[in-house]
Amino acid sequence: MSDAVTLERDGTVGVITVRNPPVNALSQAVRQGLKDCVSAAAADDAIEAMVILGDGRTFIAGADIREFGKPMAEPGLLEVLDMIEGSAKPVVAAIHGTALGGGLEVALSCHYRVAVDSGQVGLPEVKLGLLPGAGGTQRLPRVVGPQMALEMIVSGNPIRARKAVEVGVVDAIVDELQAGAVAFAAAKAKAGGPHPVISADDSKVKGTDPKLFAEFRKSIEKRARGFFAPWRCIDCIEAACTLPFAEGMKRERELFEQCMNSPQRKGQIHAFFAEREVAKIPDVPKDTPVQPIASAGVIGAGTMGGGIAMNFANAGIPVTILDSSQEALERGLSIIEKNYANSVKRGGMSQAQADKALGLIGRSQSMDDLGKADVVVEAVFEEMELKKKVFGELDRVAKPGAILATNTSTLDIDEIASATKRPEAVIGTHFFSPANVMRLLEVVRGAKSSKETIATAMDLGKKLRKVSVLVGNCDGFVGNRMLNPYTREAAFLVEEGATPSQVDKAIYEFGFAMGPFAMGDLAGLDVGYRVRKAREGKRDKAMRYSPVADRIVEMGRHGQKTGAGYYRYEEGSRTPVPDPEIEKLIRDTAKELGIEQRQVSDEEIVERLVYALVNEGARCLEEGMALRASDIDVIYCNGYGFPVYRGGPMFYAQEVGLDKVLARIQEFQAVHGDLTWKPADLLVEKAKGSGRWDS
Ligand code: 3HC
Ligand code: NAI
Repeated sequence: MSDAVTLERDGTVGVITVRNPPVNALSQAVRQGLKDCVSAAAADDAIEAMVILGDGRTFIAGADIREFGKPMAEPGLLEVLDMIEGSAKPVVAAIHGTALGGGLEVALSCHYRVAVDSGQVGLPEVKLGLLPGAGGTQRLPRVVGPQMALEMIVSGNPIRARKAVEVGVVDAIVDELQAGAVAFAAAKAKAGGPHPVISADDSKVKGTDPKLFAEFRKSIEKRARGFFAPWRCIDCIEAACTLPFAEGMKRERELFEQCMNSPQRKGQIHAFFAEREVAKIPDVPKDTPVQPIASAGVIGAGTMGGGIAMNFANAGIPVTILDSSQEALERGLSIIEKNYANSVKRGGMSQAQADKALGLIGRSQSMDDLGKADVVVEAVFEEMELKKKVFGELDRVAKPGAILATNTSTLDIDEIASATKRPEAVIGTHFFSPANVMRLLEVVRGAKSSKETIATAMDLGKKLRKVSVLVGNCDGFVGNRMLNPYTREAAFLVEEGATPSQVDKAIYEFGFAMGPFAMGDLAGLDVGYRVRKAREGKRDKAMRYSPVADRIVEMGRHGQKTGAGYYRYEEGSRTPVPDPEIEKLIRDTAKELGIEQRQVSDEEIVERLVYALVNEGARCLEEGMALRASDIDVIYCNGYGFPVYRGGPMFYAQEVGLDKVLARIQEFQAVHGDLTWKPADLLVEKAKGSGRWDS
């Protein structure tokens, strides 16, 4: 028998323990071990019942994702599950931590399931571009009914033990995992069979109204747009309700294979591992001391400050929000209150949770009130002199060891840090708008930021339920820096003959949440305008420049907030309506610039925009502004609406073929010149070498 799974006797109960750190994934050794232990327990006359549990921090968290894409080594999981379910002796799954994916499928093939209160169960395969492929789509609906199964499998979100008891996935909560499960199993053995076999019970699925599936498909149209797996999950659950178990299993296998072979699976699994890689910083080892964060301050109660304060409160960290303007402070707090009220209304949060969070937000107009905070995030206007003044004052009041963070989106962190006597404690925490919603946090490392400061800021992101990515201190950091050539190409494309709506549609169909023009209108066109005007003197005049955006702003069209930008917006509506006036403005501008308009294909639009991101991304890597290509992917999928099923721009380019991407960029270079399309050296090197960013 392997060490990965062991069998021991506890009275009359055989305790089968899975030991495959860190998350007890179902590797070949675990599958083989389970098979061996279950058959040994079945053959042992002294054993009357079995308990399966996980050693360490969790029950089984699923199939071993690292084995995907390789030929499956025997025994297959289905064979193991059939054996468990077919056991004449009752088998009890004892759940702590997370029983996820294949882990929950193991538990569902057991006759009973018990869990400790903190346990969670779920089928998150859809998040990896897959569906539960070991009977999960057939067994779960037979336990919880089709509606709940649809919600759990299509969202991929786990549920807590108490809820699992309520819906029938878990039979009982136990105080002590092993002792409780053993006592439960012994009692079931004593009571005698037959023991429940989920696959044999159709009562919850029989006679399901087919309308349920049609309605569910409709309800996810928007959020599952472009994704492959969610739709296949629904097909499988529908099969569970219309076909006998064995045939439903066949259908599940078929559709699982389709998902496994889909490029989306590769992209989503890349995104999964990329999110785990971001925490690894070569010169800031895992054991770097992290400062405890028990209280926080936020300076500036505007758009960003309010959202940032909510993040702290949601994580249970008391936060004081400060603004120099009484009016701004009142406004900021009333927006926070409204946001919480909306969360309660939409069911995202209970009234008690909202009240608790609100109770953690204090207000102030005096810097001295931030003296006790462990971290202070500054979010005042984007002006260097103002930020330096604020940091100077903060330096005076903040306690030793406090982290002084700035939410600047464009300014030099080192210059801001120079206003303090402790630049080692200064760091950028670049939140994305709306800050209480968006998952991305760019942690911007200054030249003097200490390792403790970096480790603490990264850890803080985790506490705030963000995904933190460490980036370098350059203009636009990584995300916005890459966005620059992207939006620039969008502007050039319309001058060359595309319309804003064609560009937006092409990139939306590629899978982005929104096209560049709709995004500009949403963010406010005046923001970019002010930045461009401030930098006018520094602009390289030899470089092609599109005046279209400036002209639109000068017409008073600042985007959605003024009811018009690149598009028109009907009174109170956020739906962009193409505007012939703007299309004419673009045509006239092109004429004036001597640009001959032509038919631009959707394919060219996608290539020009996405490869512009990739080329700049390669430069960020080359300059060490991003640690890994996969970090850039995390930034783009979590902060910029890049379709996660394509893995991120850098992964996407690698899948297309870096040589092909380079060849296309060279074609653009031949037409548009070196200033906009010179390929990054790193792209050239990798395209001619391994074809991969990481080797
Ligand atoms: N296979 C292989 N490695 C896995 C894994 C898995 N299923 N789940 C996690 N890991 C690895 C992570 O990559 C990470 O490795 P690293 O330390 O080298 O970076 C390590 O385990 C710890 O993971 P986390 O950092 O994510 O630890 P957390 O404690 O934050 O979270 C978790 C634990 C909730 C289990 C989370 O890792 C998770 O959600 N894992 C994925 C679960 C999942 O998707 N299961 C379904 C798999 S598909 C399947 O089962 C198919 C079946 O239906 C046939
Ligand atoms: P905002 O204009 O909405 O809010 C700024 C707030 O700072 C105002 O309430 C103002 O009264 C307050 N303030 C000004 N001077 C102050 C002082 N000396 N002391 C205390 N409060 C003061 O600005 P917004 O959009 O929230 O931006 C804040 C920062 O976040 C900027 O650095 C911006 O670049 C950055 N950022 C903005 C994003 C956005 O989408 N709005 C996204 C990411 C970063």
